[in-house]
Amino acid sequence: MPVITNIQDLHAIYRRRVPRMFYDYTESGSWTEQTFRANSSDFNDILLRQRVAVDMAERSTASRMIGQDVAMPVALAPVGLTGMQSADGEIKAARAAGKFGVPYTLSTMSICSIEDVAENTDKPFWLQVYTLKDDDFMQRLFDRAKAAKCSAAVITVDLQMLGQRHKDIRNGLSAPPKLTARSVANMATKVQWGLEMLGTKRRFFGNIVGHAKGVSNPEDLTSWTNEAFDASLDWDRIRQFRKMWDGPLIIKGIIDPRDAREALNVGADAIVVSNHGGRQLDGALSSIRALPAIMDAVGDRIEVHLDSGIRSGQDVLKALAMGATGTYIGRAYIYGLGAMGEAGVTRALQVIHKELDVSMAFCGHRDIRGVDRDILMIPKDFSDRWQ
Ligand SMILES: Cc1cc2nc3c(=O)[nH]c(=O)nc-3n(C[C@H](O)[C@H](O)[C@H](O)COP(=O)(O)O)c2cc1C
Repeated sequence: MPVITNIQDLHAIYRRRVPRMFYDYTESGSWTEQTFRANSSDFNDILLRQRVAVDMAERSTASRMIGQDVAMPVALAPVGLTGMQSADGEIKAARAAGKFGVPYTLSTMSICSIEDVAENTDKPFWLQVYTLKDDDFMQRLFDRAKAAKCSAAVITVDLQMLGQRHKDIRNGLSAPPKLTARSVANMATKVQWGLEMLGTKRRFFGNIVGHAKGVSNPEDLTSWTNEAFDASLDWDRIRQFRKMWDGPLIIKGIIDPRDAREALNVGADAIVVSNHGGRQLDGALSSIRALPAIMDAVGDRIEVHLDSGIRSGQDVLKALAMGATGTYIGRAYIYGLGAMGEAGVTRALQVIHKELDVSMAFCGHRDIRGVDRDILMIPKDFSDRWQ
């Protein structure tokens, strides 16, 4: 077992084990990747205030997200094609999250279907929903989530169109991977990955193939994807989805206070301040910099969560101290999954948990729910440097 001290250790193993096409898919932002980089580096602008000689025994990171108990306020974010990072990856990640006591969010664009994950796990999970034009497909998706006892729906509102990721175009990203001389040569060096992949039948978009009209086999999928996403999405349409799903609802992909107010009016239970991990609008504000204005606008009326750029428990602590009630990690657990399967996701969660727990203590707190802005030193112009 390799020694894993931090998320970067998992990243190094992940890079060696997973085919280039899927590594690049994870490790990309859109266009120049300015926002992708800023998401993480902006956390470094915030400092933590150390206290000493404060009782640090018997600490707790337990909290609640949308009224559900969590071992720490860190959920696994929806990540498309997770089952290409490791065979049956969604099931492995959901199991690791369930055992750890944090929510797992299954992407609409997953390889394992909603039913696959429900049958192979014993804890409820959340379903992320992309907003597609086809009403029947959408209603069925919510119905399937209900039948699978999903405990929340997470509607992603920042992907009406796709931000361009150069590497995915160059690699001809697809699931299952297209067999070109280059991709075959690269996959031949990823023996463990290949053997595990040969051992599963789950290699296509499990929520789409056989469920969406006109998509009975994977070849139909490309044309379907180009047609299916709803470029005309607006808040009225999101209100329709609210009616299709009567369970807890989270709206993901908010970076502007005006949109946060709209989400509040739709009747969401929480919003996720997120720029999709820097994969959509390149040049957008990092999530952590966007958080203060959104907290000011709606923070006392709705739960505010945050993702994008989190690579450590210290990052989680900063987001919580700025007022978020929950956070999500995307790439940080995908590195673990590609590196070591379910055990790697568990390891990623353990690493982040330990960093969160110990750093909270150094800041003089024993209960994560009591952490507030007092523990932070934030540059005066952190959130209003730009007009
Ligand atoms: C490879 C990859 C695939 C993603 N797929 C989805 C998706 O299917 N649905 C979605 O709402 N967000 C998706 N996201 C965005 C994540 O849910 C999350 O917002 C982002 O990863 C957070 O940033 P982080 O990776 O820096 O933690 C994806 C992110 C990555 C890295």
